[in-house]
Amino acid sequence: MTLRRMVFMNEVKYDYTNYAKMNRTEILEEMKKHLNDKRFQHCLRVEQTAIDLANENGVNPEIAGLAGLVHDYAKQRPNEDFIKVIKEHHLDPDLLNYGKAIWHGYVGYLLVQAELGINDARILNAVKYHTIGAPDMDKYAQVTYMADFIEPDRDFSEADEARKITHKNLWDGVIFQNEKTMQLLVGKNKAIYPAAIVAYNSIVAGLK
Ligand SMILES: [Fe+2]
Ligand SMILES: [Fe+2]
Repeated sequence: MTLRRMVFMNEVKYDYTNYAKMNRTEILEEMKKHLNDKRFQHCLRVEQTAIDLANENGVNPEIAGLAGLVHDYAKQRPNEDFIKVIKEHHLDPDLLNYGKAIWHGYVGYLLVQAELGINDARILNAVKYHTIGAPDMDKYAQVTYMADFIEPDRDFSEADEARKITHKNLWDGVIFQNEKTMQLLVGKNKAIYPAAIVAYNSIVAGLK
């Protein structure tokens, strides 16, 4: 059995009402309003992968599962929704120079909080940092970051290597993904949101 198949062995059994104002069924209904089926199915796979990684790493699988489930909740919102949140919450104005790739986590966690009634800081931070990472990511942020990268449908050339590394050591997976992501962005001459560089510096500082 490959690593890609193993993650489907368990069924999600949490209703998440310990951490959200809605139960899982209601959360799924809200998600369907804002996501196409492809993105929705990705979220379900990240949820299950996050539960597996949480169990492997001795942290609460319910918290990790919920973070994984809602990590891309805001991914397909219109730009105006994000711009409104950035302005209303007086977030870093430099965010306006970036786009959904950054906004759906770094800003989108506020939509998760407001619309799904999730107030647990561990979950909100995991959503906030799932794309760019952060200094001192806790286990939930690490699990969400990696579950998004290695969920079973990911088929980029290094996906299996990423799975092997991550199931062996979660933090090594974070280092691996961060390196690949930064290389990709630099290779395409893409601007890097400064908080992502701060996260990168923090991650490599631990390698010395
Ligand atoms: Fe995402
Ligand atoms: Fe994702």
